[in-house]
Amino acid sequence: MKILGIETSCDETAAAIVEGNKVLSSSLATSVELHAKTGGIIPEVAARQQTKSMIPVINDCLKNANLNLKDIDAFAVAYGPGLIGSLLVGVETAKTLSYITNKPLVPINHLKAHIYANWVDNNDAPVFPAVALVVSGGHTDFVLMKSHEDIKWIGGTRDDAAGEAFDKTARIIGLPYPGGPNIASSAEDHLNEKLDLLPRPMIDTKDLDMSFSGLKTSVLNYTKGNKGFDKDKLAAEIQEAIVDTLVTKSNRAIKKYNPKSFLLAGGVSANKRLKEKLAKSLGKETNLFTPNPTFSTDNAVMIAMAASLDFKPVSWQSVSANPSLAIEE
Ligand code: KG4
Ligand code: ZN
Repeated sequence: MKILGIETSCDETAAAIVEGNKVLSSSLATSVELHAKTGGIIPEVAARQQTKSMIPVINDCLKNANLNLKDIDAFAVAYGPGLIGSLLVGVETAKTLSYITNKPLVPINHLKAHIYANWVDNNDAPVFPAVALVVSGGHTDFVLMKSHEDIKWIGGTRDDAAGEAFDKTARIIGLPYPGGPNIASSAEDHLNEKLDLLPRPMIDTKDLDMSFSGLKTSVLNYTKGNKGFDKDKLAAEIQEAIVDTLVTKSNRAIKKYNPKSFLLAGGVSANKRLKEKLAKSLGKETNLFTPNPTFSTDNAVMIAMAASLDFKPVSWQSVSANPSLAIEE
């Protein structure tokens, strides 16, 4: 079954076609340059750009797979969480496609879809029960997955998401948006230095909760108190503070739930330092899955893949965008 997935929940406009766990085609238009100018996403700007890009991206995706609309067996779309204007572009497009072709439509939770990036092209697929850490620009959540349907939230950030912490601290130290990849490359030459410049709030609490909002204030205070600060060293320390917290809590989650697989997911899972430190600390006993970096950040392959592995079509009339959808829904 060929499924065409659509993703427009934040600033990307993406379409992809998958069959089973294989990717037939993937197209993506990003407005990251527009947002780099303003240092972050302005929702109205993102949505306007998406209305322009949506149809060309779908056309491009079909063309790359050498397929026509009539060859598609079902559609899938991210219906939340995300920015309402952005979500509406994808949701209304997918509903229209389902209506005109009379083919099924599968609504997909964007957060849950991030986890499915770990199944893409993977012959050695994750096994349940699994613990997943979804770490993105808007969310940082641990979930226990006993099956495709049985997903339970087991902990997460109490304030800012880890990606948000990367983006906001990058802005404070003068690195462009998106902060994560820019902090990572700036940090490259100072990875193994013991700097201890910043606190790691909640790292020692016994639960799986985390807190990243204090990092902004700490970085701000540090830059105010050390005018000639070394940007690269500070970037390394920001990355280390975030990574240390995520790694410590991941180990705690594994100890508590003893899963067969541990799945890293979301935009921050593209972070090399996080993957390396996690792999090292978990050792060989835990089956660690990390997505191909192409499918770590927002993309439509993960949307189509989630529909492919957990195929639950509904009538197009019943689908509507839900900006505050929770990961368990
Ligand atoms: O999942 P995603 O593409 O969008 C959301 O659903 O939020 O995640 C975007 C986030 C941004 O905060 C970005 O800075 C972060 O992922 N990110 C990274 C890296 N690549 C993207 N953070 C750290 N290291 C990276 N290499
Ligand atoms: Zn995302």
